[in-house]
Amino acid sequence: MSTPQEQMEAFRRAAETLRSKIDVVPRVMIICGSGLGGLANILEGNRVEVPYHDIPGFKTSTVQGHAGKLVFGTIGQNKVPVMCMLGRLHYYEGYSLQDTVFPVRVAAVLGIKTIIVTNAAGGVRPGFKPGELMVIDDHINFPGFAGTHPLRGPNLAEFGPRFQPLSDAYDFELRKLFMDKAKELKVTRNIYEGTYFYATGPTFETRAEVRMVRTLGGDAVGMSTVPEVIVARHSGLRVLALSLITNEAVGDKPPSAFEENPKDLSEGMASHDEVLETADEASKDVEAIVAAVVNEL
Ligand code: HPA
Repeated sequence: MSTPQEQMEAFRRAAETLRSKIDVVPRVMIICGSGLGGLANILEGNRVEVPYHDIPGFKTSTVQGHAGKLVFGTIGQNKVPVMCMLGRLHYYEGYSLQDTVFPVRVAAVLGIKTIIVTNAAGGVRPGFKPGELMVIDDHINFPGFAGTHPLRGPNLAEFGPRFQPLSDAYDFELRKLFMDKAKELKVTRNIYEGTYFYATGPTFETRAEVRMVRTLGGDAVGMSTVPEVIVARHSGLRVLALSLITNEAVGDKPPSAFEENPKDLSEGMASHDEVLETADEASKDVEAIVAAVVNEL
């Protein structure tokens, strides 16, 4: 692992590269989740696109539905300058957690103050349906309990403390603003608040794992967001995070081989295609609410 000085230099080098390509420094970062890349389409003004491979230190995204570029532009009447991350990096792709959160550190060095993190997630709370939204009010960093943690290693004291508190990770005012804007826009889709359970993936959960997630207090489960949120908080950013429920995570016991007429074992099975389809269908509402929120920042 490189020294804190080397890491800081890498963040600064990336930030310098970005500064040389844009005329306004962004105030807000948006990370687009699976199928939510349409969020980048709400950017207006003098749009600038920078592929990850043109930014020193950035890894490239390998997942279908994740493009791999930063898009700069403005949102809303207030022309709030925004940096949109189109194509996030996941631990399951083989990167270190530090690599996956590199763009968040660069955002902090650029002077960005607020991050909006979106994801597609499996609904674990009974009653959650595909197409519904969950504003994240807390998380469970399950891999973190076993040491797979984005802040492992020497502390970067220029950003934050060794022992970062996270009891206030999900900004109350931003959650409230999100709810208010959804109401103003008359969004009819159900919006909940809940706990996001982070699993590294890339497998979707087994039935027993879904029951475990539920027992432990997870309302939705997914393979992203938490490392980014932790590092954003450690860098002093305010966080708004949103899960689009794209599928119901199946937690029923599997049909028994003793049964005469067992249900089909594949019933309700999660698939990436379903995730993308649901995200695509709900994306217009998400874009409208996020745009209205950012306009106030
Ligand atoms: N589990 C984990 N990650 C996901 C899911 C899921 O069911 N749906 C979308 N991302």
